[in-house]
Amino acid sequence: MTELPDPKSLSKSRAQDELVRLATILTKANIAYYSKDSPELSDADYDALKRRNIFIEELFPDLKRADSPTDQIGATPSEGFLKVTHAVEMLSLSNIFDDLGVNEFDLRIRKYLNLEANSPLEYISEPKIDGLSLSLRYENGHLVQAATRGDGKLGENVTANALTIKDIPKFLKNVPTVFEVRGEVYMAHADFDKLNLRQSAAGHKPFANPRNAAAGSLRQLNPAITAARPLNFFAYAWGALSKPLSKTQMGAIRKIESFGFKVNPLSKICNGPIEMIKNYHLIEQKRADLGYDIDGVVYKVNEISLQLRLGFRSTTPRWATAHKFPAELAWTRLEEIDIQVGRTGALSPVARLSPVTVGGVVLSNATLHNEDYIAGFDSKGVDIRAGKDIRVGDWVQVYRAGDVIPKVADVDLSKRPANTVHFVMPEVCPECGSAAIREAGDAVRRCLGGLICPAQAVEKLKHFVSRAAFDIDGLGAKQVEQFYADKWIREPADIFTLRRRFSVGLKQLKYRNGWGEKSATSLFDAIDDRRKIPINRMIFALGIRNVGEAAANLLAVHYKSWRVFSAAMREASRDDPIWCDLISIDGVGEVMAQSLVTTFQQDAEWESIQRLTAELEVELLVKSPITNSILADKTVVFTGTLSKMSRAEAKNRAESFGAKVAGSVSVKTDLLVAGPGAGSKVKKAADLGVKILSEDDWLQLIGDL
Ligand code: IVH
Repeated sequence: MTELPDPKSLSKSRAQDELVRLATILTKANIAYYSKDSPELSDADYDALKRRNIFIEELFPDLKRADSPTDQIGATPSEGFLKVTHAVEMLSLSNIFDDLGVNEFDLRIRKYLNLEANSPLEYISEPKIDGLSLSLRYENGHLVQAATRGDGKLGENVTANALTIKDIPKFLKNVPTVFEVRGEVYMAHADFDKLNLRQSAAGHKPFANPRNAAAGSLRQLNPAITAARPLNFFAYAWGALSKPLSKTQMGAIRKIESFGFKVNPLSKICNGPIEMIKNYHLIEQKRADLGYDIDGVVYKVNEISLQLRLGFRSTTPRWATAHKFPAELAWTRLEEIDIQVGRTGALSPVARLSPVTVGGVVLSNATLHNEDYIAGFDSKGVDIRAGKDIRVGDWVQVYRAGDVIPKVADVDLSKRPANTVHFVMPEVCPECGSAAIREAGDAVRRCLGGLICPAQAVEKLKHFVSRAAFDIDGLGAKQVEQFYADKWIREPADIFTLRRRFSVGLKQLKYRNGWGEKSATSLFDAIDDRRKIPINRMIFALGIRNVGEAAANLLAVHYKSWRVFSAAMREASRDDPIWCDLISIDGVGEVMAQSLVTTFQQDAEWESIQRLTAELEVELLVKSPITNSILADKTVVFTGTLSKMSRAEAKNRAESFGAKVAGSVSVKTDLLVAGPGAGSKVKKAADLGVKILSEDDWLQLIGDL
C-alpha cells in the first residue's frame, strides 16, 4: 500500500475520487468476507484501506459519502445454516512435520500406555485429504443429517446439500441403528479445472484451490448449486454408534466400505515408525498423480481399545496425528515491518510483503514473532536462519503450511540492498504512546497502557466475542471494531447494554448503514441469549495473559462457582493458603497464577469485571456431573512410580470418574495413590489422615484389575 498518495496531498476532487474507489473496494471486500469462502483482501490490507478512508473523511468532512464504508458493518448477513450439536465432538489433528516427529509420536503413545519400546504396536497410515470434514448421521439406515465440523461442538446443517453428492449413500442396509460416519468432502483436480472454466465464462471469480471450491460448493444455501458442483467424499472415521463397528481401525474402515462408502485405497497397516515413514514417502511420491489434493499423511493407532485408553487432549486425539507435507515456498520482497498490538499488550512485528502466490493463495503479510526472531536467534539464544537478520527491503522466502500463519523461512543476503538497517523495536506503543517494555525473561515487548490502549481494548473485545468465549451470533471482529471506533462499546460490559442504549431514541442500531430492524433485533437477542454463560467460557473470555481455554476449564472444574473463583483471585497472595490451593491445580503454574491474581487485584480491571458480571448470570460448570461414581468430587494425588499405566493416563482416568487430580497433598486430599519410590507425600498424607492406596488397590477401585 506504499504506492498510494498521502491523503494530505490530495486535492478535493482527487479526494472525492479516492473515496469512491475505497467505497467500491471495501464494499466488495465486505461481501467476500462475509460469504467467507473467498476473502479478497488480507485483514491487514482491509484495515489499512479502512483507516485511509476514515483519514480522508476527516480531512474533507463534507465529502463523506452516504454509503461510507466507515459506517458499514459487514454485508447483509446471509440467512445462514441451522446449527446442529454433534453427538460426538468433531476434533482436529495435531501435526508433525518430519521423521523425528513420527518417532516422538510413537514414543509418546508408548509412554502413555506404559508399553515397552519393542512390544508390537500397529498403526494405520493414510492420506490426509485436503477438503472439509463432514459428519453423516444415519438412523435405521436413513441419512437424517449431514453437518460440517463448525467449531467441533456445533456444526452447520447441510443435509439438503449432502443429499446431492453422489458418493454419499442415502440409505444403508445392515448398519447399526445409529450410525455416524465421518470423512472429507473434496473436489478432484479435473473437476476443479472445469468448474473454474465455467466460473470464468460466467463472469464469476475462479476459486483459489480445490479446497475452497469444495467448501464454497457445500456451503451453498441453494442445494441446486451444490448439485451442479462435482463433489466427492472419502470416509475415514465415525461419530456416534449404537454398536461398535470393529475392534480395529482397519476393521471399521473395511466395514464402512462394505456399507457402500468410498474409503481411501492407500490406507495401510504399519508396524512402527520405520514402516510409517516409508509409507509416508510412498504416498508423497504418488501425490502428484492422485488427481485430488492431499496435504499429508494421517497416522492412527489401529487397536480401538488402545484408542479409547489414549483418549483426547482438549481438541485433538492422542492416538492420531497428521504428518504434513513440506510447505510450498516462495521468494518476495519485504516492504515494511509494522507493529501490531495484541490484547495483552504484546507488540508483534508483522512483515508486509510484495504480494506473492503460494499454493493458490496470495500472501501479503507474514508474522515475524518478536525482535529476537528478526535479529536471527530463538528464545534460547540459538541461531535461526544461520543467524541472518531480517531487514526492510530484503528478499525473503515465505511459506504457509495449512492454516498456519505465513512465516519467513529465509533471507537472501546476496540481494540485500545497500543502506538497509537493523530493525529496531519501538520503545513506545504505536497505538497509545505508552512505554513499551521488555521484561527479563519475556520474549516480547509489551505496551504498559493497559485499559487506556485502544489496540489492547479492541483486541480484548474481539477475544471476548470469539468462538470459544462468548461467541455472540452477528457480533464478530468487524462489528466490534466499528462499535469501538464509534464509542458504542469500550469494554465487555458495554455489549450487554447495547439494547438499552441503541434500540430507542435518535441513535438506533437499526438506522445504521448495513443494519435494519431485523438484523438489529437479532443482534440484541443474540446478546441477551449469552447473559447466561458457563463459568469456563467466562474465565477464558476475560483474555487474561497465560490463561487459555484449557486453563479456564481447569479453573472452572476446581472452583466451580464464579463467586468462589473471583473471591479467591482477589484475595490470594503469594504462598498463602489460597495461592497454594490455586497452584495445586494440576496444569496451573506460578506464572499463570500470577497473571490471574494481578488481573483481579488491579482495581480498574476488577471494576470492569464487576460491571460485566452485573449483566450476567455465570453458570456452574456445564460438564455432565458424574455423581454416581465413588470418586466424584474427590481429590486424588498420585506419587511414586506406576507400573500398569503412565501418570498421565492415571490422571485422565481419575478425571473420567469425576475426581480432581492435584499435584500436592493437603487437607483437601481424599486419596493418595502411592507407587514404589514414593517419598514425603506419603508421610504428609499419613499425618493428615488421608487414605493411601497402592497402584493395585487403585486399579481395583476403578474396576480395572
Ligand atoms: S481423522 C479425531 N483422517 O484433517 C480425528 N482426518 O487436520 C478425526 N482429514 O478435521 C480426523 N484426511 O477434516 C482424519 N484420513 C484422515 C483425514 C482427516 C483429512 C482432515 C479432517 C480433520 C483435519 C484435521
